[in-house]
Amino acid sequence: STTPVKVAVTGAAGNVSYGLLFRIASGALLGPDTPVELRLLEITPALKALEGVVMELEDSAFPGLAGIEIGDDPNKVFDGVNVALLVGARPRTKGMERGELLAANGAIFTGQGKALNDHAADDVRITVTGNPANTNALIAKTNAPDIPAERFSALTRLDHNRALAQLAKKAGVHVTDLKKMTIWGNHSATQYPDIFHAEVAGKNAAEVVNDQAWLENDFLPTVQKRGAAIIEARGASSAASAAAATIDHTRDWLRGTADGDWVSMSVVSDGSYGVPEGLISSFPVTTKDGNWEIVQGLELNDFSRGKIDASVAELGEERAAVKDLGLI
Ligand code: NAI
Repeated sequence: STTPVKVAVTGAAGNVSYGLLFRIASGALLGPDTPVELRLLEITPALKALEGVVMELEDSAFPGLAGIEIGDDPNKVFDGVNVALLVGARPRTKGMERGELLAANGAIFTGQGKALNDHAADDVRITVTGNPANTNALIAKTNAPDIPAERFSALTRLDHNRALAQLAKKAGVHVTDLKKMTIWGNHSATQYPDIFHAEVAGKNAAEVVNDQAWLENDFLPTVQKRGAAIIEARGASSAASAAAATIDHTRDWLRGTADGDWVSMSVVSDGSYGVPEGLISSFPVTTKDGNWEIVQGLELNDFSRGKIDASVAELGEERAAVKDLGLI
């Protein structure tokens, strides 16, 4: 098609977006033959920096970049958007309480949820990358009653990709030899990366690895705490890998998962696997034509059940906290 797809990105002058915008403009999200119009949202004091990013986008002379609009009003920036990547969020600053963080982000995601509700295109798909991603997505969804709940998602694909990288190293294979990785629960240190259904070159990954001590003492904490390890090493939080994961997540949602494989996405629960209905929690999903389905019928051992329950309990607490704050 020659009609450009309108892709909104929030926090567009931030670090993740610096990795994200150029890849979207190059066709990594929608494919090389679909022109894209970028709609970039920032807070007022960051608009000047954003103008610099726009200059660089222009200077890249991307064949598929049909236009760029920037602004600080979500009601204008989200007008007619088909895809919204909600990256901008208030980071936790030193001494900030969890309640304050939820309140600060609550204000952002109630407003953006309403703006999407009133102005986005009928086919809009929304990916929340900004943390706390799952609960921010829940707030946006609840404030957008006219948008079907299944159009909202939160990013656990970076965790999924991190888990693939660790498993590939352990098994001595390339990530392309791996299938059916799953991240369950919250995008936080309680997330549960599950290799019991994953495959290494067609064989069960847990059996190939056959090392419960590695699983519990190495793999799980490495994946769960990878964000902190990157901050420690780089002096800044993961940005390029978060951008790559935001592309992977949204591209697969729009264009479909491969046969015989699945991906991890945080989506609204229908009660599958005992996750309370309405929570936005990470599941194994297959996708086709912009729709996702939770993979059904996986058997969970006691170890997995316990880990999933703990992460889902945390999501329940976050939901209770934002309810108390009147955000949902
Ligand atoms: P950053 O601080 O470099 O950029 C965030 C940008 O958002 C800033 O430019 C800021 O001005 C903007 N912003 C703040 N409030 C806004 C609003 N109301 N509307 C529009 N823009 C707004 O942060 P960075 O490194 O780009 O990270 C962005 C978010 O992504 C953070 O919340 C971070 O925790 C999260 N993240 C999530 C990951 C995941 O796997 N889900 C992985 C890595 C980062």
